[in-house]
Amino acid sequence: MTHTGLFISFEGIDGAGKSTHIDGLAQAFKAQGRHVTLTREPGGTPLAEKLRDLVLHDAMDPLTEALLIFAARRDHLQHVIEPALARGEVVLCDRFTDATFAYQGSGRGFDLAVLQQLEAWVQHTPNGLRQPDVTVWFELDPQVAAVRLAGARVPDRFEAQPVTFFEKVSQGYAERAGADPQRFVRLDAAQTREAVWQQLLEQLVQQGWLNP
Ligand code: TMP
Repeated sequence: MTHTGLFISFEGIDGAGKSTHIDGLAQAFKAQGRHVTLTREPGGTPLAEKLRDLVLHDAMDPLTEALLIFAARRDHLQHVIEPALARGEVVLCDRFTDATFAYQGSGRGFDLAVLQQLEAWVQHTPNGLRQPDVTVWFELDPQVAAVRLAGARVPDRFEAQPVTFFEKVSQGYAERAGADPQRFVRLDAAQTREAVWQQLLEQLVQQGWLNP
């Protein structure tokens, strides 16, 4: 049976608890006979993973940060995401461009018009702007996320930011979701892991992306 490619991204502030659900969803799609490409941003290709390492650990100005993230995204789209979608696979991507608007735009205060320009260049396809079909947003109070993250691991340049930074990032996600409500599935990530998982399955089944 042939399928149309499906592109799902997963977003939320650090500590919102995306990872286990992304793995669970990969299993759920595979159990329904779909081929799944599980990937992440920044990263997903050898070059983009090198850029990820720089972005997460080296000091740089906001424009350099945005350019490196979009350079990584370009390589990732060309070598992983677009080919997988063309093969009819389900692409599950841990973060995509909404993270850039939320972290670099709202969090760092970088010019949103410049980000829009970069988005248009990097995600251009012959059929228009490449965007996820669905974006699952794990919404969590930044104070709760901070408690979850405390002492979890050595923080990177983003995880080391204060709660006020994540309040702005959250606001950035809310603005992106408000601008494109059809694409976003919002989950209350303050609930137990099991309850969040049930919300996720229900929403994807209800919208026809996953079979019951
Ligand atoms: P991760 O820890 O969820 O893998 O994400 C890596 C970090 O990179 C996370 O703190 C968010 C940040 N990030 C941005 O600042 N901009 C972006 O465009 C992306 C994709 C991630």
